[in-house]
Amino acid sequence: MKFTFEGRFVIVLTASILSLAACKQPAKNTSATPTMTDTTQATLPPEKGFKEIVDGKLTHYYVLKNAHGMQAAFTDYGAHLLGLLVPDKSGKLKDVVIGFDEIEAYKKALSAYYGATIGRYGNRIAKGHFVIDGRRIDLFVNNKPNTLHGGRKGFNDVVWDTKSVTDSSITFSYLSKDWEEGYPGNLQCKVTFELTGDNAIKISYEATTDKNTVVNMTNHSYFNLNGIGSGTILDHLVQFNASNYTPVDSTLIPTGNIEPVAGTPLDFTKPATIGSRINDKNDQLKKGKGYDHNLVLDKHDLTMPVASVTGDKTGIEMQIFTTEPGLQFYSGNFMTGANTMHGGAKDDYRTGFAMETQHFPDSPNKPAFPSTVLKPGEVYKTVTIYKFSVK
Ligand code: GLA
Repeated sequence: MKFTFEGRFVIVLTASILSLAACKQPAKNTSATPTMTDTTQATLPPEKGFKEIVDGKLTHYYVLKNAHGMQAAFTDYGAHLLGLLVPDKSGKLKDVVIGFDEIEAYKKALSAYYGATIGRYGNRIAKGHFVIDGRRIDLFVNNKPNTLHGGRKGFNDVVWDTKSVTDSSITFSYLSKDWEEGYPGNLQCKVTFELTGDNAIKISYEATTDKNTVVNMTNHSYFNLNGIGSGTILDHLVQFNASNYTPVDSTLIPTGNIEPVAGTPLDFTKPATIGSRINDKNDQLKKGKGYDHNLVLDKHDLTMPVASVTGDKTGIEMQIFTTEPGLQFYSGNFMTGANTMHGGAKDDYRTGFAMETQHFPDSPNKPAFPSTVLKPGEVYKTVTIYKFSVK
């Protein structure tokens, strides 16, 4: 259905008058509250919680905007994406990325990696070791019995340097020193976030090293396309352009096989809701406590989406484009409601999902997987785009 500009104006005006009138009525019961909340535009976490001293460095807060009202907030602490406002089908801004109001809250929820930039190696390395150039490398085992998302103090928990900021883009850089967290080589890395004119957030990673090392950077935002605090993500509709996945053992380390999704609950080659098969009796779902699996993307050259997800209440659709060969689909299985998000709601079980574009988990120990080795003279470069529209 098409509305003229004037038509839309009348509808919006009428809706606003009606909802204002509804709000002015004395509250007879608590059901008056949702009407009020519904008419407000979502906001970003406020600046004041992000000016702290962490590891002796002052932290900062930044807001980016594009011409269509899309907005995003960041901090240099962990190069976190703190919130992302996008318009829903009625033009109202929703915050679709879980965030908190202060650095302390991120510190408390560290093991969930909300909104963080992840490195040096995103996802798991089995038993915290691998061999490079014939030498055994030992890492800190922070997710027993494995290393997860960089180890004891990953890129999510350090203060990055801010290199450049414009109205719609920001670049952070970080030098991960030789042997930091056990990894060889001084790794000079950069991450750039850009809000584009077509309502996408484009994330570009770059790194160089002075010794052979491994790199696998990603972003660990949890999305709720109905808006954070609006309940579970189980009715979100998902489609992946992924015919295969990497099945895991009980510690979420890939077995090394690449298997078809066909006939399993991981088959999202046709659209299905997250919740439709999440409770199926299936060994992989049991091991992941839900979805916590790496999908092997059919095509990953930015020419077509690797994933598309739609919020059932808002009609907000997110398409993902990436140069990475894999995507970790995590359905918020470890969320327990222990943290209060921006806006006041708790981070309850499965109220957010992550889609971490990446190389496959445990690649340093799986020679048949695409390599994550970076050598001196090479430049690590990957791009991931989360693009928003309404249906
Ligand atoms: C990744 C992992 C999950 C979980 C989350 C953070 O997505 O695959 O198992 O550890 O990070 O809670």
